[in-house]
Amino acid sequence: MPDHGRLIPRDRTVHPAPRDPEYKTSVTRSPNLPLLSMESSPSEETGPTFGHGLLGKLDNNLILNFSQGAAPALGERILMHGRVLDQDGRAVPNTLVEIWQANAGGRYRHKKDTYFAPLDPNFGGCGRTITDENGYYEFMTIRPGAYPWPNRGNDWRPMHIHASVFGHSFGQRLITQMYFEGDPLIDHCPIAATIKDRASLDRLVAPLDFSKSRPLDYLAYKFDIVLRGRRQTMFENKLEGM
Ligand SMILES: [Fe+2]
Repeated sequence: MPDHGRLIPRDRTVHPAPRDPEYKTSVTRSPNLPLLSMESSPSEETGPTFGHGLLGKLDNNLILNFSQGAAPALGERILMHGRVLDQDGRAVPNTLVEIWQANAGGRYRHKKDTYFAPLDPNFGGCGRTITDENGYYEFMTIRPGAYPWPNRGNDWRPMHIHASVFGHSFGQRLITQMYFEGDPLIDHCPIAATIKDRASLDRLVAPLDFSKSRPLDYLAYKFDIVLRGRRQTMFENKLEGM
């Protein structure tokens, strides 16, 4: 019988290091000195409570939410779905999940993104939802394009969707990225390579899920987010969080 009271201590060594020379900007923005452990205060231990009343009808539909249903975004329609789970595989309900991503051409709607790919007037690139009683979430979106970035000269980000899960307080926000099964760029990406353990990286690669695909409409990709434990998701900010 599982012991639901136990707490598996966090293994901080398995998450990607904040400093990796192959990921050049991580060198200048990571701490140079060992981190100090400090007592948390109410501002870290408390946070907003999110309820389903907060959400708009289209908030988890990135194909339609930017135009508020007036016109769909360009690109290959996909469903991103999965569950937020704890260390024992139990559902984590009522959790805010936010995602952000580039458009089908690989460009973000951001003033600093000057990539050649055009903006899509009907795609914003952000969505949010709250897990249901089974910890389940889903987003309708388009498959993001790969994009180049000036790291070592010819580096490309694989197709990916950034994801954040919000805990019970501001200090508990966790951030990760979902990759797509079969994308050859994953093996060339210095950011993906900050995760040194292959099995841990593979848990960020969402498998194609025909069980949730809708015929003549969209493909589905399954991405479970596991907060702790042996099968935990790799989080890029785990070292900072509570
Ligand atoms: Fe990105």
